Amino acid sequence: MKITYNGFDENLLFEGLILPYFQDHEVDYGGVTLLNNNKLPIQYLKDKELFLGKKGEVHSISFSDGDRNLDVMLIGLGKKEELTGNVLRKAVGKGYRELKKKKPTSIGVYLNHVVEGLKCSYAIGRNTAEAIVMTDYKFDSYKTDNKKELLEEVTLLFDGIDEEFKNGFEEGISIGNSTILARVLVNEPANVLTPTDLAERVKNLGVEKGFEVEVYELEKIQELKMESYLSVAKGSAEPPKFIIMRYTGNPGGETLGLVGKGLTYDSGGLSIKPTKSMNTMKNDMGGASAVIGAMSAIAENKLKVNVTAVVAACENMISGRSYKPGDIIGSMGGKTIFIGNTDAEGRLTLIDAMYYIVNHEKVAKVVDIATLTGAAIHCLGHTATVGIGNDDEFFDMIDKSFNKAGENIWRMPIFEEYKELVKHSEADLTNVAGSPGTITAGIFVGEFAGDIPWIHLDIAGTAWAEKDKDYISKGGTGVGVRSLYYLAKEMAE
Ligand code: BES
Ligand code: MG
Ligand code: ZN
Repeated sequence: MKITYNGFDENLLFEGLILPYFQDHEVDYGGVTLLNNNKLPIQYLKDKELFLGKKGEVHSISFSDGDRNLDVMLIGLGKKEELTGNVLRKAVGKGYRELKKKKPTSIGVYLNHVVEGLKCSYAIGRNTAEAIVMTDYKFDSYKTDNKKELLEEVTLLFDGIDEEFKNGFEEGISIGNSTILARVLVNEPANVLTPTDLAERVKNLGVEKGFEVEVYELEKIQELKMESYLSVAKGSAEPPKFIIMRYTGNPGGETLGLVGKGLTYDSGGLSIKPTKSMNTMKNDMGGASAVIGAMSAIAENKLKVNVTAVVAACENMISGRSYKPGDIIGSMGGKTIFIGNTDAEGRLTLIDAMYYIVNHEKVAKVVDIATLTGAAIHCLGHTATVGIGNDDEFFDMIDKSFNKAGENIWRMPIFEEYKELVKHSEADLTNVAGSPGTITAGIFVGEFAGDIPWIHLDIAGTAWAEKDKDYISKGGTGVGVRSLYYLAKEMAE
């Protein structure tokens, strides 16, 4: 599918049209050609309360002239004064998803009236492009009967096309595609996407998008004394890969650090998970995919900022060489850890990655992102990412970035009492610190961030979607890609 833009032209013919409406403002689509000079029965739909233009509403109408068919999808934008980029992105995503079910070969998205609510052509271009790119993705690459794509072209119809609109459009396409890249990585099954395969894919991406990639093999990981990470990795027949990505857009300036949890599979280890929980554990590298997607978007858009990302990729498996509950292990930072549960493995891989990035890559600020605790789902469900951190100003920045991306985040507190919970009588720390599990897991990771501003993001609830919704497709969501991109962009400004 190709996506382009054009000024409105009544001679352009499509098989599908998306027409946005406000709830509190008449919208005139008189100039839009419907087959056989048909008119839209807007008053009829309003009288019957079939479509009022409210946020989240969609309504389809089909027109025919005997030979051709036109499917029109009305999408509600809510109140004119309250229109935001996030509302537009969701509305376009939902309408586009519904319209595609009608199998059109071409779609026009009519945007002229949107500007009456959202007065920024950059925001219109970006959010519409983002919505279409993201909604278009479906994980079906393993279906042998997967049907050929019928939709050839989507055209954004807008008379206010200026440089701002074009910039927004290009950026929207880029960050939308970077999100899909992350979704693909999550959706690839663990028998295909091993740590080795992930490292290879990242190397290729680095060449394609313009960032440097270095991969540390087992020997180098051992040399660096990443004992905590290696304890998790050693039960698997697949070798671990420590992946480093570096992008320099502001030589001499400070560097943002990103750490992504990269468990390409989490069986739970000897503290084994029930089968049902294991079924989706290929998604345990959702944090890694977020930082990889963000790096791609950052490099592609040539942001004037330096970003270094690391992923300690491995599998958490069972074998005669697995680490065991009751073990006491070391870590690159020197602290010892009592293993209370081998399923609390993510934090063990993250602390060596965190210690490494802070001390060897000299980052000024650091964000770690991880599908870390089931407890995060109990905290905020599948709706929002749990955040914690040690710096209010830095947290404000990430809060704004999430907002811009339309991703929800909620900050949890770090009380002194919680810090006591990660300590252990026989070792410096324990990997199962108890309730509140999401906060104590985050605190455990933060122990290795030194004194720099640090944010921990638990995406266990948001990295995976059970069903399609708006521009989110079933499976890996690519959460964090766009938010981390905006964070880097904010640091560049
Ligand atoms: N990868 C899981 C967390 C998870 C759960 C991610 C559900 C996505 C969906 C993590 O490694 C894990 O198993 N955490 C344990 C920690 C516990 C043993 C302290 C958990 O949350 O149950
Ligand atoms: Mg686990
Ligand atoms: Zn895990």
